[in-house]
Amino acid sequence: MVANTILTFLPNVVTTVISFGGAFIIVVQNDPWMALIALMGAPISFLTSRYSARKMRDFQRENQNVASDRTVFDQETFQNMQFIKAFGMVERVTEKFHKIQDESVRIALDQNKFQQTMTIATSLVGQAVGYACYGFAAFRLWQRQISYGTMTMFVSMAGSLRGSFSGILGLLPMVIRSGISAERIMEITSLPRDSMEDKEEAEEIRRESRRKGVFVEMEDVDFAYEEEKWVYRDARFQARPGEIVALIGPSGQGKTTTLNLLLGLYHPQRGQVRVGNPGGRMLRASSSTRCLFSYIPQGNTLFTGTIADNMRMVKPEATDEEIRSALEAACAWEFVERLEKGMDTEVRERGNRFSEGQKQRLSIARALLADAPVMILDEATSALDVATERRVLRRIIRREPHRTVIVAAHRPSVFSMCSRIYKVQEGHMAEVTEEEVEEFLQAF
Ligand SMILES: Nc1ncnc2c1ncn2[C@@H]1O[C@H](COP(=O)(O)OP(=O)(O)OP(=O)(O)O)[C@@H](O)[C@H]1O
Ligand SMILES: [Mg+2]
Repeated sequence: MVANTILTFLPNVVTTVISFGGAFIIVVQNDPWMALIALMGAPISFLTSRYSARKMRDFQRENQNVASDRTVFDQETFQNMQFIKAFGMVERVTEKFHKIQDESVRIALDQNKFQQTMTIATSLVGQAVGYACYGFAAFRLWQRQISYGTMTMFVSMAGSLRGSFSGILGLLPMVIRSGISAERIMEITSLPRDSMEDKEEAEEIRRESRRKGVFVEMEDVDFAYEEEKWVYRDARFQARPGEIVALIGPSGQGKTTTLNLLLGLYHPQRGQVRVGNPGGRMLRASSSTRCLFSYIPQGNTLFTGTIADNMRMVKPEATDEEIRSALEAACAWEFVERLEKGMDTEVRERGNRFSEGQKQRLSIARALLADAPVMILDEATSALDVATERRVLRRIIRREPHRTVIVAAHRPSVFSMCSRIYKVQEGHMAEVTEEEVEEFLQAF
């Protein structure tokens, strides 16, 4: 849009201004009255074009709103299809669908009607002015003030005058539209970029991690998403290579937040979040250090494609053998093996074809394939039975003894495997003793 306007605007302005100026000079020199009559429709055209530009902008906005409502409706409905059926909500959802559809039909009809009315009105004004010019010229011919040739010239020049005037008006909406588009592009390009300045050091830490592993720590951290609304203050946290460290705490108190801080997705208002090799380099957590982590977020993160496609998202060059070994480590191979097409089985939309626990195991296998020194699991084993959960965690550590594993969890089954447990609650994060864990488990 912007490029098009820049490319066509100047030539268009030059040609329309020249043709308007030329026609104007010729007509005024011959007969100023004639010029006046030819431009009689100008104020009306000017006002109507302003009015219709404003109306069209409103229509544009309404159309965008309905389109986004529709996208959200489609996504939510298809994702929650089973829920909708189970609660007998099909009729209500259908009703909502009709409402959205009616709304978009109404806007389309209104817009069409408006455009047609405007076209008819402007062409009527144009015709009226055209006939007025013609009549005036004929009158002058009748009075023998001009020749037949001059009259023909008048009529055609008057037409060209009107045409180029509307041409100039027509250029304005194009400029307005491309101005809006340019503004949007600028909004996107001015978004802050992830800083990658520590990239090389982070790569170095990753290479070194093969021998030493990677530790992660938080020191005196204060963090709030919004000013003064502290998730916690003075938080301390540490996870060393070969350890499984758990984060526990009631819902909504800051477990996922802590993981986000470790991943460098947010930065603390005070204190340090550091990542490094024990006894070696150390860096502030940022987008550069993210290459040291593999992360399994809360919720489902499978994509359409086969199981192997999903695995290769994190490591495109992975061989079937490597994929199989990762699936085995995540206790996923046991059900993948039994599928008719094995790892070439289609996952389908959002992994619909698998159970929750199976999806979690596939996500874990994918994270293992990424082969990062620190693995973060945000309730990623919550749908597994206790025995499988323990097996998965044990295999993760056995596969790579230097790996640092951080889990956000609710269940006691995990805790006995952990080197340390931190509790996040009521604005604090602190290491807890076994007795405190017991207490916590009884309370929740
Ligand atoms: N992007 C965000 N912007 C503002 N507030 C947020 C944001 N993400 C989380 N919060 C708030 O921060 C607090 C901690 O959220 P967090 O997701 O860390 O909880 P959690 O301990 O992981 O809970 P759960 O066990 O339910 O997953 C919550 O009160 C939440 O509303
Ligand atoms: Mg969470």
